[in-house]
Amino acid sequence: MKKNKNFIKFVLSLYKPVKFLSIVMIFSMIISQIFDLIKQYIIKGIIDLPNNPNFSITDLYKVVFILLIIIILELIFFYISNILRTINVVKKQTPHISEKLFNNLNRKSYPFFIDNFSGKISSSINEVNDEIINLNTRITTGFISLLTSMISSLIILYTIDFKIFITAFVLFSGIIITRIIYFSKRYLPLIKYAQETNREYDGILNDAVLNFTSLKVYSAVENFSKTLKTKKEEVNIYKNKASSREFTYGAIANAVYIITFAILLFYSIYRFGNNLMTLGNFIFFINAMISLKSSTTSFTWSYIHIGEILVKLKNCYDLLYDDTNLIDDNKSDIIVDNGTIRFDNVTFKYTKNNILENFDLTIKNQQKIGIIGVSGSGKTTLVNLLFKFYSPQKGKILIDSKDINDYNTKSIYENLTYVPQETILLHSTIYENIKIAKPSASYNEIISAAKKAELHQFIENLDDKYNTIVGERGIKLSGGQRQRIALARIFLRDSKIVIFDEATSSLDNDTEFKIQQNINKYFDKQTIICIAHRLSTLKDMDYIMVIDNGNIIDSGKPKDIIPKYDKVDFLSLESEDKNLC
Ligand SMILES: Nc1ncnc2c1ncn2[C@@H]1O[C@H](COP(=O)(O)OP(=O)(O)OP(=O)(O)O)[C@@H](O)[C@H]1O
Ligand SMILES: [Mg+2]
Repeated sequence: MKKNKNFIKFVLSLYKPVKFLSIVMIFSMIISQIFDLIKQYIIKGIIDLPNNPNFSITDLYKVVFILLIIIILELIFFYISNILRTINVVKKQTPHISEKLFNNLNRKSYPFFIDNFSGKISSSINEVNDEIINLNTRITTGFISLLTSMISSLIILYTIDFKIFITAFVLFSGIIITRIIYFSKRYLPLIKYAQETNREYDGILNDAVLNFTSLKVYSAVENFSKTLKTKKEEVNIYKNKASSREFTYGAIANAVYIITFAILLFYSIYRFGNNLMTLGNFIFFINAMISLKSSTTSFTWSYIHIGEILVKLKNCYDLLYDDTNLIDDNKSDIIVDNGTIRFDNVTFKYTKNNILENFDLTIKNQQKIGIIGVSGSGKTTLVNLLFKFYSPQKGKILIDSKDINDYNTKSIYENLTYVPQETILLHSTIYENIKIAKPSASYNEIISAAKKAELHQFIENLDDKYNTIVGERGIKLSGGQRQRIALARIFLRDSKIVIFDEATSSLDNDTEFKIQQNINKYFDKQTIICIAHRLSTLKDMDYIMVIDNGNIIDSGKPKDIIPKYDKVDFLSLESEDKNLC
């Protein structure tokens, strides 16, 4: 119940910048429909006018003149409503929605992005935008206009004959109520499944396009296209089922309508034949019944479509605004003065097996620690925990003796700088890709950071220099160039703790050496954690720890550790394959 309330609040919040315009838009549509009702009365008057003994042609001119004014007013208000709808949507509402939903992603923690396809997340944001545009159209040109048109037709029937009115009222309200109940129960759930499956399809498709070259070189394209086909067929099964339910219902409702209409028609002919009904009223009755039929059908369709839109919006809301995987932005900011780090008896598992077990590690401020260990031994996991991407099941992680669990994730990010194991760049320029580390950075700061990362010379030789587009995920650059962009980012940051996770693994020895020198020069006051497979990378560290199966199995000065493990090929080992002890 609370969830539904929050969902309604969410939908209303999407209308925040267009509240006033939306109200005017709805009222304009209602007024236009009222003019439509008046118009019909005038037409009836025109038909019955010659029956009046005092009828003169001047009266006819007058009434037609009024009729024209009413038609013009009806069109003006209809036009205003439609213009406002377009202005609402195009100018104000959709940019607001995009901004709001994208900002909301900032509240989501790391596992949210790990567990969901990126295509599913982005298509949900797009869907909210599209569905709100649909909702606006359905509410104004569908729901409101049809509801008022139905009420108008019923008012007309009421003024003609009470019995006709009451029969029509029972018939059409019966059709509406049964249809709404039937569709809520039997149709909308199918639409929900269809949309969920379609989003999964989007996710798989996006993933496949992103990795198309891998699929191609392994000749896996055809196989994959079969997976996509099956998924799409699944979507269609739900949609087809929904359509066939609609046809069955429609056939029954139409049969009931025709029978009732026929009875009322014979009744009206009888009344007209006995001078109990005027010609104007007889034509009015036929017109109102036909218009009621089409507006009832369209009205229930509008209701169903609005229901469909709300179901789709709710699906998107559940994904994007789910209470799980939220970062803790209600906690206070951490202030890091020294940069000491402590893992205190930490036990952690992602799923089943413990990756770290009663793990202890203390890093003093300004200490430079190297970490080595075979693949899968838990090195990156240490960083994941320090960044609060995940929380340990047991134990504490302290920065400057403060338990990071007591502080909000955003402030932790602000105090740590990280070069991840895999550098993924935005599909933008080199300049913008460096700048994301410090959006307020000046042009000179960016150049200086690129120089420290041994990147400037390479960029200067490119045709578009800093404006070179790097391609999706940085595909147009080499692995080493991508890494140097990631390294350039850290020179823009000013934090007490800097972490390198295989940050120079793709660089040649010479470039790595130069960058190491810059790191030593510019980060001499920082605490540094450097994870590496290549031991030469760690020769300037104060200490090196050797990790295996989530435990520190050895540690010491580089001069002792490097010769001892020099022969171990860390890259080719998996933690289960070899116990380093
Ligand atoms: N998000 C995740 N969900 C589930 N298991 C994970 C996740 N990330 C890592 N693991 C598992 O945790 C273990 C430790 O992984 P981790 O990335 O810490 O290893 P690593 O020492 O950094 O290895 P490498 O040297 O290859 O980078 C591995 O067995 C890995 O499969
Ligand atoms: Mg790793």
